[in-house]
Amino acid sequence: MSQIKHVAIIMDGNGRWANQRIRPRIWGHVRGSAVVSDIVQSADELGLKALTLYAFSTENWSRPFEEVSILFRLLSKFLLKEKQRIVFNNIKFKVIGEIQNLPAETISLIKEVEDLTTNATGLNLTFAFNYGGRAEIVRAINIFHASHPEKEMTESDLTSLMYRPETGDVDLMIRTGGDQRISNFLLWQMAYGELYFTPTKWPDFTVGEMRKIIQNVSSRERRYGNVSAQNGLGDSKDSAEVNKASFLKGINS
Ligand code: IPE
Ligand code: IPE
Ligand code: MG
Repeated sequence: MSQIKHVAIIMDGNGRWANQRIRPRIWGHVRGSAVVSDIVQSADELGLKALTLYAFSTENWSRPFEEVSILFRLLSKFLLKEKQRIVFNNIKFKVIGEIQNLPAETISLIKEVEDLTTNATGLNLTFAFNYGGRAEIVRAINIFHASHPEKEMTESDLTSLMYRPETGDVDLMIRTGGDQRISNFLLWQMAYGELYFTPTKWPDFTVGEMRKIIQNVSSRERRYGNVSAQNGLGDSKDSAEVNKASFLKGINS
Protein backbone atom coordinates (compact mmCIF):
# COMPACT_ATOMS: atom_id res chain seq x y z
CA MET A 1 0.00 0.00 0.00
CA SER A 2 1.28 3.49 -0.82
CA GLN A 3 2.74 5.53 2.03
CA ILE A 4 1.38 8.64 0.33
CA LYS A 5 -1.79 9.62 2.18
CA HIS A 6 -1.79 13.41 2.09
CA VAL A 7 -1.09 15.06 -1.24
CA ALA A 8 -0.87 18.83 -1.58
CA ILE A 9 -0.84 20.46 -5.01
CA ILE A 10 0.29 23.90 -6.15
CA MET A 11 -1.89 24.17 -9.25
CA ASP A 12 0.35 26.47 -11.26
CA GLY A 13 0.83 27.40 -14.90
CA ASN A 14 -2.69 28.43 -15.95
CA GLY A 15 -1.61 31.85 -17.21
CA ARG A 16 1.34 30.56 -19.24
CA TRP A 17 -0.80 27.74 -20.64
CA ALA A 18 -3.26 30.35 -21.98
CA ASN A 19 -0.52 32.72 -23.20
CA GLN A 20 1.03 29.92 -25.25
CA ARG A 21 -2.35 29.56 -26.96
CA ILE A 22 -2.66 33.31 -27.45
CA ARG A 23 -5.65 33.44 -25.12
CA PRO A 24 -6.21 35.62 -22.04
CA ARG A 25 -4.84 34.27 -18.75
CA ILE A 26 -8.40 33.88 -17.52
CA TRP A 27 -8.96 31.17 -20.08
CA GLY A 28 -6.20 29.19 -18.42
CA HIS A 29 -8.00 29.46 -15.08
CA VAL A 30 -11.28 28.30 -16.62
CA ARG A 31 -9.60 25.25 -18.17
CA GLY A 32 -7.65 24.64 -15.00
CA SER A 33 -10.76 24.47 -12.86
CA ALA A 34 -12.08 21.57 -14.97
CA VAL A 35 -8.95 19.59 -14.07
CA VAL A 36 -9.69 20.08 -10.36
CA SER A 37 -12.91 18.04 -10.69
CA ASP A 38 -11.03 15.12 -12.32
CA ILE A 39 -8.30 15.09 -9.69
CA VAL A 40 -10.78 15.23 -6.79
CA GLN A 41 -12.82 12.40 -8.27
CA SER A 42 -9.77 10.20 -8.60
CA ALA A 43 -8.45 10.76 -5.08
CA ASP A 44 -10.10 7.64 -3.62
CA GLU A 45 -8.85 5.48 -6.42
CA LEU A 46 -5.35 6.86 -5.77
CA GLY A 47 -5.63 5.77 -2.11
CA LEU A 48 -5.49 9.27 -0.63
CA LYS A 49 -6.88 10.30 2.74
CA ALA A 50 -6.30 14.02 2.23
CA LEU A 51 -5.95 16.27 -0.79
CA THR A 52 -5.06 19.94 -0.30
CA LEU A 53 -5.23 22.22 -3.33
CA TYR A 54 -3.66 25.68 -3.48
CA ALA A 55 -6.18 27.80 -5.30
CA PHE A 56 -5.43 31.39 -4.21
CA SER A 57 -2.55 32.69 -2.14
CA THR A 58 -2.48 35.79 0.07
CA GLU A 59 0.02 37.15 -2.48
CA ASN A 60 -2.36 36.59 -5.41
CA TRP A 61 -4.31 39.70 -4.37
CA SER A 62 -1.67 41.68 -6.24
CA ARG A 63 -2.96 40.38 -9.58
CA PRO A 64 -5.20 42.49 -11.87
CA PHE A 65 -8.68 42.98 -10.41
CA GLU A 66 -10.36 41.13 -13.28
CA GLU A 67 -8.19 38.06 -12.71
CA VAL A 68 -8.82 38.05 -8.96
CA SER A 69 -12.58 38.32 -9.56
CA ILE A 70 -12.57 35.43 -12.00
CA LEU A 71 -10.72 33.25 -9.49
CA PHE A 72 -13.44 33.95 -6.89
CA ARG A 73 -16.13 33.25 -9.43
CA LEU A 74 -14.49 29.98 -10.45
CA LEU A 75 -14.37 28.83 -6.83
CA SER A 76 -18.11 29.49 -6.46
CA LYS A 77 -18.82 27.82 -9.78
CA PHE A 78 -16.82 24.77 -8.78
CA LEU A 79 -18.69 24.45 -5.49
CA LEU A 80 -22.10 24.88 -7.11
CA LYS A 81 -21.28 22.32 -9.77
CA GLU A 82 -19.60 19.78 -7.52
CA LYS A 83 -21.43 20.09 -4.22
CA GLN A 84 -23.77 17.18 -4.83
CA ARG A 85 -20.96 14.96 -5.99
CA ILE A 86 -18.84 15.97 -2.99
CA VAL A 87 -21.68 14.96 -0.64
CA PHE A 88 -22.42 11.77 -2.58
CA ASN A 89 -18.76 10.72 -2.45
CA ASN A 90 -18.60 11.19 1.35
CA ILE A 91 -15.92 13.89 0.97
CA LYS A 92 -15.25 16.19 3.93
CA PHE A 93 -14.69 19.64 2.47
CA LYS A 94 -13.01 22.62 4.08
CA VAL A 95 -11.40 25.85 2.99
CA ILE A 96 -8.22 27.00 4.75
CA GLY A 97 -7.17 30.64 4.64
CA GLU A 98 -8.68 33.96 5.64
CA ILE A 99 -12.08 33.49 4.08
CA GLN A 100 -13.70 36.39 5.94
CA ASN A 101 -12.05 38.69 3.37
CA LEU A 102 -13.84 37.03 0.46
CA PRO A 103 -17.11 38.18 -1.19
CA ALA A 104 -20.18 37.39 0.98
CA GLU A 105 -21.73 34.97 -1.51
CA THR A 106 -18.49 33.01 -1.78
CA ILE A 107 -18.31 32.75 2.01
CA SER A 108 -21.87 31.49 2.32
CA LEU A 109 -21.34 28.88 -0.38
CA ILE A 110 -18.14 27.68 1.29
CA LYS A 111 -19.97 27.42 4.63
CA GLU A 112 -22.84 25.57 3.01
CA VAL A 113 -20.57 22.87 1.54
CA GLU A 114 -18.53 22.66 4.75
CA ASP A 115 -21.71 22.19 6.80
CA LEU A 116 -23.18 19.67 4.36
CA THR A 117 -20.06 17.52 4.63
CA THR A 118 -19.20 17.98 8.28
CA ASN A 119 -20.00 14.34 9.16
CA ALA A 120 -18.44 12.83 6.05
CA THR A 121 -15.85 10.13 6.69
CA GLY A 122 -14.12 9.90 3.31
CA LEU A 123 -11.45 12.04 1.68
CA ASN A 124 -10.45 15.27 3.48
CA LEU A 125 -10.61 17.73 0.63
CA THR A 126 -9.12 21.14 1.41
CA PHE A 127 -8.98 24.24 -0.74
CA ALA A 128 -6.33 26.73 0.31
CA PHE A 129 -7.95 30.00 -0.62
CA ASN A 130 -6.63 33.39 0.46
CA TYR A 131 -4.08 31.18 2.17
CA GLY A 132 -0.52 31.90 3.31
CA GLY A 133 1.70 29.46 5.20
CA ARG A 134 3.34 32.18 7.28
CA ALA A 135 -0.03 33.74 8.11
CA GLU A 136 -1.27 30.31 9.25
CA ILE A 137 1.69 29.91 11.64
CA VAL A 138 1.40 33.45 13.02
CA ARG A 139 -2.32 32.99 13.55
CA ALA A 140 -1.70 29.75 15.47
CA ILE A 141 0.91 31.41 17.70
CA ASN A 142 -1.42 34.31 18.44
CA ILE A 143 -4.31 31.99 19.35
CA PHE A 144 -2.02 30.01 21.64
CA HIS A 145 -0.62 33.05 23.44
CA ALA A 146 -4.06 34.57 23.92
CA SER A 147 -5.19 31.51 25.89
CA HIS A 148 -1.86 30.48 27.52
CA PRO A 149 0.08 33.70 28.06
CA GLU A 150 2.54 32.07 30.47
CA LYS A 151 3.11 28.75 28.73
CA GLU A 152 5.92 27.77 26.42
CA MET A 153 4.60 26.47 23.12
CA THR A 154 5.40 22.96 21.88
CA GLU A 155 5.42 21.58 18.35
CA SER A 156 2.24 19.64 19.02
CA ASP A 157 0.52 22.82 20.30
CA LEU A 158 1.35 24.52 17.03
CA THR A 159 0.30 21.50 14.95
CA SER A 160 -3.06 21.39 16.70
CA LEU A 161 -3.69 25.06 15.90
CA MET A 162 -3.22 24.81 12.15
CA TYR A 163 -6.37 25.55 10.15
CA ARG A 164 -7.06 21.87 9.56
CA PRO A 165 -4.96 19.76 11.93
CA GLU A 166 -6.72 16.48 11.14
CA THR A 167 -5.11 16.33 7.70
CA GLY A 168 -1.66 16.14 9.33
CA ASP A 169 1.70 16.39 7.61
CA VAL A 170 2.01 16.50 3.84
CA ASP A 171 3.45 13.28 2.36
CA LEU A 172 3.80 14.63 -1.15
CA MET A 173 3.70 18.13 -2.58
CA ILE A 174 3.30 18.39 -6.34
CA ARG A 175 3.81 21.67 -8.16
CA THR A 176 2.79 21.93 -11.78
CA GLY A 177 3.98 24.63 -14.18
CA GLY A 178 7.73 24.03 -13.95
CA ASP A 179 8.74 26.38 -11.14
CA GLN A 180 10.55 24.82 -8.23
CA ARG A 181 9.43 26.71 -5.15
CA ILE A 182 6.93 26.45 -2.33
CA SER A 183 5.33 29.93 -2.63
CA ASN A 184 4.21 30.10 1.03
CA PHE A 185 2.21 26.87 0.93
CA LEU A 186 1.76 24.64 4.02
CA LEU A 187 5.15 25.59 5.44
CA TRP A 188 4.64 23.85 8.79
CA GLN A 189 3.03 20.67 7.40
CA MET A 190 5.64 20.25 4.66
CA ALA A 191 8.65 19.74 6.98
CA TYR A 192 9.26 16.16 5.77
CA GLY A 193 7.07 16.14 2.69
CA GLU A 194 8.44 14.73 -0.55
CA LEU A 195 8.55 17.36 -3.30
CA TYR A 196 7.77 16.76 -6.96
CA PHE A 197 7.95 19.45 -9.62
CA THR A 198 6.48 18.75 -13.03
CA PRO A 199 6.79 20.99 -16.10
CA THR A 200 3.19 20.14 -17.05
CA LYS A 201 1.02 23.23 -16.76
CA TRP A 202 -2.06 22.75 -14.60
CA PRO A 203 -4.67 22.70 -17.42
CA ASP A 204 -2.76 19.78 -18.99
CA PHE A 205 -2.33 17.84 -15.74
CA THR A 206 -4.10 14.47 -15.70
CA VAL A 207 -5.05 11.73 -13.26
CA GLY A 208 -2.64 9.47 -15.16
CA GLU A 209 0.30 11.80 -14.45
CA MET A 210 -0.71 12.08 -10.83
CA ARG A 211 -0.84 8.28 -10.52
CA LYS A 212 2.67 8.02 -12.01
CA ILE A 213 4.02 10.67 -9.65
CA ILE A 214 2.57 8.86 -6.63
CA GLN A 215 4.06 5.57 -7.84
CA ASN A 216 7.44 7.21 -8.40
CA VAL A 217 7.50 8.94 -5.02
CA SER A 218 6.25 5.84 -3.17
CA SER A 219 9.51 4.13 -4.04
CA ARG A 220 11.62 6.89 -2.47
CA GLU A 221 12.98 6.09 0.96
CA ARG A 222 11.80 8.55 3.60
CA ARG A 223 14.49 8.55 6.28
CA TYR A 224 13.33 11.35 8.63
CA GLY A 225 16.92 12.02 9.65
CA ASN A 226 17.69 8.33 10.26
CA VAL A 227 20.16 6.25 8.23
CA SER A 228 18.93 4.08 5.39
CA ALA A 229 16.90 1.03 6.45
CA GLN A 230 19.44 -1.03 4.47
CA ASN A 231 21.98 -0.16 7.16
CA GLY A 232 19.59 -1.63 9.70
CA LEU A 233 20.05 1.02 12.35
CA GLY A 234 17.68 2.92 14.65
CA ASP A 235 14.05 3.15 13.73
CA SER A 236 12.28 5.38 16.16
CA LYS A 237 12.15 8.56 18.18
CA ASP A 238 12.86 6.39 21.23
CA SER A 239 16.21 5.28 19.86
CA ALA A 240 17.04 8.94 19.15
CA GLU A 241 16.35 9.78 22.80
CA VAL A 242 18.48 6.84 24.02
CA ASN A 243 21.35 7.90 21.73
CA LYS A 244 21.13 11.50 22.84
CA ALA A 245 21.13 10.56 26.53
CA SER A 246 24.11 8.20 26.30
CA PHE A 247 26.07 10.63 24.16
CA LEU A 248 25.60 13.47 26.64
CA LYS A 249 26.38 11.13 29.55
CA GLY A 250 29.61 10.15 27.79
CA ILE A 251 30.83 13.70 27.18
CA ASN A 252 29.79 14.94 30.61
CA SER A 253 31.51 12.18 32.58
C1 IPE B 1 -1.98 29.23 -10.99
O1 IPE B 1 -1.67 29.64 -12.26
C2 IPE B 1 -3.30 29.74 -10.51
C3 IPE B 1 -3.19 30.75 -9.46
C4 IPE B 1 -2.10 31.23 -8.94
C5 IPE B 1 -4.44 31.24 -8.94
P1 IPE B 1 -1.00 31.04 -12.57
O2 IPE B 1 -2.08 32.05 -12.79
O3 IPE B 1 -0.03 31.42 -11.51
O4 IPE B 1 -0.27 30.73 -13.92
P2 IPE B 1 1.19 31.19 -14.35
O5 IPE B 1 2.12 30.73 -13.27
O6 IPE B 1 1.16 32.67 -14.47
O7 IPE B 1 1.40 30.50 -15.65
C1 IPE C 1 1.17 29.75 -6.20
O1 IPE C 1 1.31 30.13 -7.53
C2 IPE C 1 -0.24 29.98 -5.75
C3 IPE C 1 -1.26 29.12 -6.36
C4 IPE C 1 -1.08 28.18 -7.24
C5 IPE C 1 -2.58 29.37 -5.88
P1 IPE C 1 1.86 31.56 -7.94
O2 IPE C 1 1.90 31.59 -9.41
O3 IPE C 1 1.08 32.63 -7.27
O4 IPE C 1 3.32 31.56 -7.31
P2 IPE C 1 4.60 32.39 -7.69
O5 IPE C 1 4.17 33.83 -7.75
O6 IPE C 1 5.06 31.92 -9.02
O7 IPE C 1 5.58 32.09 -6.61
MG1 MG D 1 1.95 31.02 -11.26
